[in-house]
Amino acid sequence: MINFKIVDSYDEIGVLASKMVAEIISKNSNPVLGLATGSTPIGLYSNLIKLYNEKKLDFSKVSTVNLDEYVGLEEDNPQSYKYFMNENLFSKVNIDIKNTFLPNGAAENLLEEAKRYENILESFENIHVQILGIGSNGHIGFNEPFNELNLYTSIVDLKKETIDANSRFFEDSSMVPRKAISMGIKSILRADKIILMAYGESKAKAIEYLANDKISTDVPASFLKLHKDVHIIVDKEAAKYLK
Ligand code: F6R
Repeated sequence: MINFKIVDSYDEIGVLASKMVAEIISKNSNPVLGLATGSTPIGLYSNLIKLYNEKKLDFSKVSTVNLDEYVGLEEDNPQSYKYFMNENLFSKVNIDIKNTFLPNGAAENLLEEAKRYENILESFENIHVQILGIGSNGHIGFNEPFNELNLYTSIVDLKKETIDANSRFFEDSSMVPRKAISMGIKSILRADKIILMAYGESKAKAIEYLANDKISTDVPASFLKLHKDVHIIVDKEAAKYLK
């Protein structure tokens, strides 16, 4: 079931999501968080850091698994998602870095790496929550619209619109990797709870589709409708077409 929550601003998305994640961290003895990168979850992470600094949150028993990583970027590359996570969360809280997992996009054998990563996901009895952003084309993780979607962690080709959207983080679009390694749809649906956040008008069409009673590989996020506990937190612009 999908539960929609419309808030006034980007900041409020982060505050609300951080309350939900903080509750999960507090009530589980070994919390496992599925995390995302991109601009959307930065507000969530800064609110979690704030709660940690106020001594209201302890990350010492937290494990994390990330959705995806660019192929070809070493982890010390500032554009890599590993680097992003260190900068925006891991280095700012008392998490044990050994308990943080991302696919390795610089692995020599990427197919083996995808299998290794899926095994890591399966090694957790529960992933208590999966954080998601959404592409304006409806992608989640890097599961792009196509006639088929991957169930499990796979190597994927990024669509032109994703390369264009992500080029804002690079010097120019020719530097954006063309491939990524991403959790599949079933890997994502394994989580007990899913929190998808979106802000801005560019996401409004994709969010509108999530409110109808259809699923389509053209909107990969629509597969979230098969999950029993999905929370979508959006600002007014992203909610523009919701009735
Ligand atoms: C990031 C990810 C992507 C982003 C999506 C939205 O780990 O998996 O699906 O969530 O591309 O990106 P932003 O938040 O930058 O609009």
